[in-house]
Amino acid sequence: MSIWSFPTKIIFGAGEIQKLGAEAAALGVSRVLVVADAGVEKNGLLQAPLSALAAAGLVTHVFTRVDGNPTEQNIEDGAKEYASHRAEAVVAVGGGSPMDAAKLIALRAVCSLPFEELDDAIDGGVHVPATVPPIITVPTTAGTGSEVGRSGVLTLRSTGRKTVIFSPRLLAKVAILDPELTVSMPKGVTAATGFDALTHCVEAYLSLGDHPLADAIALGGIELVAHYLERAVAEPTDLEARGGMMKAAMMGAIAFQKGLGACHSLAHPLSSEHGLHHGLANALCLPPVVAFNQPAVPDRVRRVGALLGNPADAPAAIAALRSRVGIQAGLASAGIREEHLAPLAQKAALDACHRSNPRPCSEEDLLGLYRASL
Ligand SMILES: [Fe+2]
Repeated sequence: MSIWSFPTKIIFGAGEIQKLGAEAAALGVSRVLVVADAGVEKNGLLQAPLSALAAAGLVTHVFTRVDGNPTEQNIEDGAKEYASHRAEAVVAVGGGSPMDAAKLIALRAVCSLPFEELDDAIDGGVHVPATVPPIITVPTTAGTGSEVGRSGVLTLRSTGRKTVIFSPRLLAKVAILDPELTVSMPKGVTAATGFDALTHCVEAYLSLGDHPLADAIALGGIELVAHYLERAVAEPTDLEARGGMMKAAMMGAIAFQKGLGACHSLAHPLSSEHGLHHGLANALCLPPVVAFNQPAVPDRVRRVGALLGNPADAPAAIAALRSRVGIQAGLASAGIREEHLAPLAQKAALDACHRSNPRPCSEEDLLGLYRASL
């Protein structure tokens, strides 16, 4: 049996952020907590969302104490402000971190179970209640796809591990994808977040399971990345390229309801232990992971390579694109050393993502993949 669903209403287009207020009002709420982070606020990206909300008569309170990799403290602080504002909905503005934090703040508002018990690795999502308040997402990057994803990731205090909370009840009711909100992204962030989108599409397409819709969306997403990522990096104000990458990011996250793979298991501890940007961590590990998976799914790997311009060698095609968008290869260039790898592999083995990798991987395999990425 397979279950296939794509329920979030997605509004796409330059200038569409002005619909935010009407969309929130249509959900029947009048008080909202706007979750962002310091960078979003500093770059002036809250202005358009806040004026759209105000124009529709909504009472807003802004919460920006969200770290680059959201922590349990961030979620607890946000939930307190949600309660004291008497909010009825959450609007997330930003990249993956504020969007994930917003979903988990909405969850925390109605569920006090420890996050350890909600961990996807033990199928904790079954405890997520149906009463999670409405969530609206407004991405300002093009990578995570969290705007249409059904999970939030946070670093737990008890384990220090990046932990996925997964439930369809964390899906946004509405996502507004306005490419104008992404033009201020610096080149490095455009490249790294774009590689997160690519990794979602590639890992979803290669992952275990039967999901023809997700497969088709993943392939479409890879095609968009191949077409638009370099353009978006080279020409930040190219709205067509920015829009193409927003679509690719959104499609990647829809596709990965099928599952992700070993690359994300490798990436998560690189962020929680060493603070690497999530998209960068994926970019550095993806070619070895695809090479590792090749014997298990050769036809699929070939198709990924073909979309990226080299059907005979998908890992090389990915590495070539990575270098064209200015990402320096090698975990060593991001400060990782050989002695870091064994503890990282231990954490990666505990991560749930590699369970859907097309080729089973042990802790030893994960260590080998880190070495190959060094
Ligand atoms: Fe990701």
